[in-house]
Formats: sequence, structure tokens, C-alpha cells
Amino acid sequence: MATVNENYNKLSSDYLFVEISRRTKAFLDKNPDAKLLRLGIGNTTEPIVPSVIAGLRFGVEKLSNPKTYTGYGDEQGDARLRKALVDFYAKRDVALAHDEIFISDGAKPDAANIQSIFGEKSVIAVQDPAYPVYVDSNVISGHTGIKKGATYEGIVYMPCTEQNGFFPEVPTQKVDIIYLCSPNNPTGAVATKEQLSGFVDYALERKAVIIFDAAYHSYISDSRLPRSIYEVEGAKECSIEINSFSKSSGFTGVRLGWTVVPKPLAIDGAQAGRVNSLWSRRQTTMFNGASNIAQEGGLAALSEEGMAENQSVIDGYMENARTIRECLVQKGLKVFGGVNAPYLWIKAPGSMSSWEFFDKMLAEAHVVVTPGAGFGPSGEGYIRISAFGHREDINAAVESIRANLMV
Ligand SMILES: Cc1ncc(COP(=O)(O)O)c(C=O)c1O
Repeated sequence: MATVNENYNKLSSDYLFVEISRRTKAFLDKNPDAKLLRLGIGNTTEPIVPSVIAGLRFGVEKLSNPKTYTGYGDEQGDARLRKALVDFYAKRDVALAHDEIFISDGAKPDAANIQSIFGEKSVIAVQDPAYPVYVDSNVISGHTGIKKGATYEGIVYMPCTEQNGFFPEVPTQKVDIIYLCSPNNPTGAVATKEQLSGFVDYALERKAVIIFDAAYHSYISDSRLPRSIYEVEGAKECSIEINSFSKSSGFTGVRLGWTVVPKPLAIDGAQAGRVNSLWSRRQTTMFNGASNIAQEGGLAALSEEGMAENQSVIDGYMENARTIRECLVQKGLKVFGGVNAPYLWIKAPGSMSSWEFFDKMLAEAHVVVTPGAGFGPSGEGYIRISAFGHREDINAAVESIRANLMV
């Protein structure tokens, strides 16, 4: 008799974006003439830049010619793209070998799947609030207990609060797998080298592993802030970095990412090189390689021209962030993030909850935001606003907040 994976029953039924849709629909049913302005979703909106489109087209053209057609490629990725990423890291003085880099169809699947190469009894630690995939993938895999209130049993939540600048303190108890994300979704906080160094020291001492999600690396303009965890000494011995072309190149729908598993990474029962070969084994068994078209696009995105063109798109999103920030600050709200990250993290006025502030934004300004409580218990009392959007839509939302939000 077949049975289902009961761990799915542990997952929250109140999935954040479903509840946002429900409330938005209820509002529109009552106010059919209202024009909704969306600042909630972390999805890219601007077209892919010309040099990268040319790369994608080149990938398509190659498939039309018997001389250049390719079918399955290496599961670990096109050697040219892996080499281009080695060069990409070298610009930050990070030396990696091509076989430490695994090309994938995006950071989300890698962030979800990486837990499968570690022992079942590993104690998981996450930033609170966090991108939900880290927790949910461990729930599905049976690494946690049930949800009690806002937290799952068996997960160590590391609070990110105004007091600690939204970057957590190193855990005081023993944890084995630590998920960190910088620039952070949802808080927009960016870790300093010193802050990451504290975690690297902890991981080296306790033979723990850091899973570092750098999907928003390209939004860091302050050169003192690390774009990769490998800019921190010792990180190659204890950290895996997950990355993406989604937010740096508008590839949210194209699908391309990569994961770095350095050879020196060693843990209990696994000598240097073993974790790298386990991830390779996992990928060759369960993944058939990223799209060859997407990988041609990735190569173009890493070219000098691609990087320069993409930078102007990123600058545009960051101009959105500045506009939103200015308006909210003028309104007297407490605003965090949005400087080296495309997300702004806003304290709800008074003692309002996240959902109360969400409802207020919707009712008064017709603006849809994301309630912070959906990202973990420490997100309660905050909302997330995203800087992804066309300029005219962002301006309309900002004008509406300026004119209608009563704070
Ligand atoms: C922190 C973080 N990591 C990863 C992703 C997903 O990246 P990808 O599109 O490469 O799967 C997102 C998407 O919003 C994200 O916020």
C-alpha cells in the first residue's frame, strides 16, 4: 500500500503568498474600482539586456544546426561556464577550481536539495526571518519535528532584530548546518566580513557547514561588503555557496544558478573532497544539467559587456529602492535594508502586527506588500517591500503611499 510522505503534513497550510492573494481578492471584491499597486513580489520585471539576449539566441541557433547541435551536457555544467565563474570569483580574489563549481537550474532547487547530502541527525540553524526554502526543505526531508506556534521543533532559529542589525549572533548551542543569506531576503541586511568571520570560526571549530545563499550578491555596491563568503579566510574549509543568475541577469524565468562546493570542505566522517564528490553524485543521479540555451546566456552575462549592461538594470532597481525608502522615511516609518539589497524591511507603526500593516497599506494606499511574519517569528511586526518593478509602477505606488497612508 502506497503512503504519502507525512512530513508534508507538517508544513504550514497558511502559505504566505496564498494568504496575500486571498486578502487582496477580498479587498478587490469590496472595492472593484481600486487599482492595486504591487510592491510585494521578489520577481524581476525588466527585460534581459541585449548582449545576454544575443547569447541566448546564439544558444538557440546552435541547436538548429547539425554541426553545433548538442543534447545532454555534463550534469555539472558546461566547462566554459564553470571556467567563466572561476574568473568571476578571481576578480574578488577568490581562487576556485572549475570542478568546485556546479551549474544548476537555479538557487532555489540547490538550496532545497543541498540538505540531502548531510546526515539525517544534523541540527539545522536558520536566520529568523529567512527565505522559506531552507526550513521547508528540511521539514519535508524529516529533519524537524512538528510546527508549534511559529516555529518547527528541532530547528534553531537565529533571531535577526533591530538590536543586532538584522544579522544573527553565532549560536550558543551546537548546530551542524547553518543557512545564511546575504544580502538577505527579506530584511535587506548585508553581512560584513567580520560578521561572516564569526560564523566561519564557529563552523571550523565545530565542524559545522555554512550554506551561504548569495543570490543577491550583485546588489552590493559598497566594496567593503563581501559578495562571496569565500572572501572570508577559512570559509573554503566550511562553506558551500549557492548563487543565481536570476536577480543579476533577469533569469528568474530562464533558470540558471550555481553552487560552489570547495574541495577543502571537510566534516565529521568526510575528508576534504568527499562533500564535493557527494554533491557531484547527487547531481549526476538526480539532475540532467542546466539548459544549454540558458548556459550560453550565462556566459554572455559574465562577459564584460553583459556585466556592464546588467549593472544598469540593477542600478535602476536600486533607484526604485531609493525612491521607496525616501517616501517611507518622510512618512516617519522606520526603514531598514534597500541600500545594498533590493528589499526594504519596514517596522509597522506602533504595535501593529505584520498582517495589520499589510491590511492598512492595502486599504489606504492600495499597495500590496509582504508581511514579515511569513518569513519567521522575528519577522512579526515588519513588512517587506521589494524594489523590483517598472519605474512608473513604483512611482505610482510611492505617490499613493505619500498621499493616502495615514501614519
Ligand atoms: C534568497 C533567495 N535565494 C534564492 C532564490 C531563488 O533563486 P533562483 O531563481 O535562482 O532559484 C531567491 C528568490 O527569490 C531568494 O530570495
